Amino acid sequence: MSAVLAPSILSADFARLGAQVKEVEAGGAALIHVDVMDGHFVPNITIGPAVTAALRKVTQLPLDCHLMISDPDRYVLDFVEAGAEMVSVHVEAAVHLHRTVKRIQDAGAKAGVVLNPATPLSAIEDILPEVDFVLLMSVNPGFGGQKLIPPVLQKARRLREWIEREGLSTRIEIDGGVTVDNLREVASCGIDMIVTGSAVFGTPDPRATTQKMVRTLAEMVEDGSRC
Ligand code: DX5
Ligand code: ZN
Repeated sequence: MSAVLAPSILSADFARLGAQVKEVEAGGAALIHVDVMDGHFVPNITIGPAVTAALRKVTQLPLDCHLMISDPDRYVLDFVEAGAEMVSVHVEAAVHLHRTVKRIQDAGAKAGVVLNPATPLSAIEDILPEVDFVLLMSVNPGFGGQKLIPPVLQKARRLREWIEREGLSTRIEIDGGVTVDNLREVASCGIDMIVTGSAVFGTPDPRATTQKMVRTLAEMVEDGSRC
């Protein structure tokens, strides 16, 4: 099964957000990655539940809300109620992570935990069996358009081995610095969902760019280079 593409709206034209989301949906995106930032956990401020609810009305795609906020437990239900199918919280920000994960799942959404580049896999040792997906940051969170931090690819491979060793069905998502040029390398690391922002919305035709990246991922299944 091929990895899927999750365009991040952080790099979209916020004055035309609905139209931009429709473009990547038409291009074959599987998810819409919604970057939520509070200017406290990360040095940037973006959007919240209200914009998430507005996006819910313009796309059929699952909304993958990445909460880069302090005290995420206070807001997870607001995002589920706004229409998020996936809500991920940073292990570095969630004091009561097990309770937060359960709250997301009890509200009917998929729960993910996020690791910053320097946070070791061991930080999720006791929660891994409970979560639906793990989001590995391949940039330091806060901004789009940064370079992918290469050691995170090895981290993804180690996580894939760990999941398989434990017989879990946990999915792996990677987020940050993925481009047309490194897409094949990224997708060959056992990753299921690939976030990409500036590489799609920074191009003149996000629909065509999405189509090209989705086609690359499909070709990897056909040529056996998808592990
Ligand atoms: C960064 C965000 C990422 C970012 C990805 O804090 O979590 O989702 O928008 O953007 P690119 O693909 O441009 O690195
Ligand atoms: Zn993100």
